[in-house]
Parts: sequence; C-alpha cells; structure tokens
Amino acid sequence: MPQTVASFLSHQIQSLGPLRFDKFMDISLYQQDVGYYSSGKTRTGAQGDFLTPVSTGPVLGQLLSQQISEFAKFLNHPPSLHIVEQGADRGHLAHDILTSLLQDHPHLNSSLQLHLIEPSPPLAQQQKKLLQPLFSKIPIHWHSDISSLPTQSNPTFFYSCELIDSFPVRLIRFHSGQWHERFVTETNSQLEWLDQPAPPELLQEISHWSIPAIEGFTAELRPSVCPWIKLLSEKIQQGIVLTLDYGLPAPELYHPSRSSGSLVALRHHSYSPSPLAHPGEQDLTAHVNFTQLIEEGNSLGFRSFGPRPFMSALTHQATSLLRQSSPKSEKWTRNFQHLVHPSFFGQSHLALLQAKNLPPTYRPSMFPI
Ligand SMILES: C[S@@+](CC[C@H](N)C(=O)[O-])C[C@H]1O[C@@H](n2cnc3c(N)ncnc32)[C@H](O)[C@@H]1O
Repeated sequence: MPQTVASFLSHQIQSLGPLRFDKFMDISLYQQDVGYYSSGKTRTGAQGDFLTPVSTGPVLGQLLSQQISEFAKFLNHPPSLHIVEQGADRGHLAHDILTSLLQDHPHLNSSLQLHLIEPSPPLAQQQKKLLQPLFSKIPIHWHSDISSLPTQSNPTFFYSCELIDSFPVRLIRFHSGQWHERFVTETNSQLEWLDQPAPPELLQEISHWSIPAIEGFTAELRPSVCPWIKLLSEKIQQGIVLTLDYGLPAPELYHPSRSSGSLVALRHHSYSPSPLAHPGEQDLTAHVNFTQLIEEGNSLGFRSFGPRPFMSALTHQATSLLRQSSPKSEKWTRNFQHLVHPSFFGQSHLALLQAKNLPPTYRPSMFPI
C-alpha cells in the first residue's frame, strides 16, 4: 500500500495512465490518511501554510452568530434550528459561532443543533477536542459527507469559509488553435503536464462561460459545484447557504486579461513554483466562480444575495455592534480590520448568501439593498 501521496500518484499513473488534473488535485489534497488535508496536519493559520479569515480571530464567528440570530428572529424563533458547517478544518469558526451564540443570544440555546461535515477522521478528532466543552450545551453531530446529513425539515443555516476554492478543478488551455484539457503524467520519476484535446462536455462549459480562445489562455472549471449545491438543496427544505470565499463573477474570472487562470499552490506562506511540486505537501486552490453558484442555486429555487466583498458585507453585518456605546477593544478592532481591510481579506474575499423557501421580505443585514 503506497505510503505517500507521491508514491500513490506514481502508482496510479503507471497503472491507469495520465491523470486528469482534478483527479491529481483530489488525491493530493484528500487521499485517505496522507492527503494534504486528510492527514490532519496543521495547514491554516500562522503555524500552517496560509491564513484564512478564520485565522484572524473570533470576530467572524461573532458576526455570523448575529446573522444566525437575525435569521431565527425573522422565523419567529423556531423550536429547532440546524447550523451546518462543511470544511471546518480544526473547528475554530464553529467554536467562535457557538461561543458567541451562547453568550450574546442565550434565548436561542435550546433550539440549536450543530452539524459538521468532515470526511477526514483526524480533522473530525481535532474538532471534537476543541468543541468538547460545548457538548453539554448544544448537540453536535458529525457526518462524513453531505449525503449522510439528515434531510432537514427544520430551518437550516449552512455556511462554509474557503471550502469551494479547495474543490478539485479541471484545467483547460487554449493552444495550437484548439482547447485542451490538462493531465498529469510521469517521465523519469518527474511529474509533467500533458495536454489532450478537450472533450465535448468541457467545450460546452467553455462556450457557456464565453472563455476567450486566446493562445495560451488557461483557466479552471469546477463541475463538482453543481452536484454539491443540488445535494444541499435536497437536504435543506428551508434555510440559507452562506459561502465565504475568494473568487469572482464569471465575466471577471474569465476576462481576457486573466490569461494564466487562478490556480495556485501554497506552502509556508508563499506561492510554490508549480502545482505539480511537493504533492500532498502544498495546498492547491483556485478561485470560486460565483456566477456558477448563483446560476445553479437559482435554478434550484434559491434566492441569491451578493456576492459582496467582505469590506462591504461584514461592515454591514457589524453595524449594530459598531453603534453600541461601549468602545470595542483594540484586539477586536484589529481582528475586524483584518477581515474588512482591502489589503487583507476585505477585497479578495466575497460573501454570497443563498436563501431557500424564505418569505420575500427576508433581507439579511449583510446585504441591505
Ligand atoms: C482552505 S481550508 C479552510 C478551512 C477553514 N474553513 C478556514 O476557513 O480556515 C479548506 C477546508 O475544506 C475542507 N474540505 C474540502 N472539501 C471538503 C468536502 N467535500 N467536505 C468537507 N470538507 C472539505 C478541507 O479539508 C479543508 O479543511
């Protein structure tokens, strides 16, 4: 049994031939026990390879807890409200949200349940350790994937932070007068790119997004988003899907000026020279196509608010906190600034809220008109 991602990839390529890039990315990040994320090693935060909005501190959790409280109030405080997070890493955001709900919105406590969708047993273990002090206050359930989440007839607030950017992507490149799909092969023990003519289903997507056929133009497509939101829509009868991530609407993502695409590899807080280097030891990530989420969600009956950059969405969400007469601590202010300042997460990260089966009067305070 191969012991590392590199040996597993080599074995796969030798036995099955070149790997499509999304398969390469899937193995690199999620191969059981050894993948970049599934190993359970520290990946986010100062001790890891990159910072996320969650690593800045508890203010994001406080703002989301406010939004959950608003949602409960709008529904006249339902007897049961399910909160669901997918991609919680070590569980810090869920911890911050529950702590803030318990402190600032105690009237909700008896109605809340938390569900974490976590396929990696080492990560689920770390989440359990962090959340253990809250077990006696709020029921918390773990699921290995969305399909094992019970279908919720109760209102549900689903959220994720930097989840979708880590879903595997298919890579396309226009050269020699036609579109190609990028594969990974191995020559003399070195991983290398191999381009093959793009199959019809990709050509259809390329045409749908009007991706410019310019020599050398490279881009990512993420077809897995469609079944993901469809499954969520089946599980959530009434509620919210809140996506916090970096990305762009399709016309900007596939603008002729962005000819190198958005795929990057990250290691030790720097960009790695190649997505094929250090497999299993570096993050692989690509921007979210927010238009795809909206189109797909709308076709399934969701109503979309946003996307808006954090500097706008989170500032609106924080308005009532900022208006409180008691001054905010320096620590709080620094944390908030990290979230909303354009040179940190304020500009790069967007919030998209998709609401299902909520009365038309529902208007989240993150998106006031
Ligand atoms: C960039 S990290 C973000 C972690 C955390 N949410 C944060 O913002 O700090 C991406 C996370 O998404 C998780 N992930 C990716 N695909 C997933 C899936 N299908 N189900 C559950 N988690 C997933 C990864 O394991 C990883 O923990």
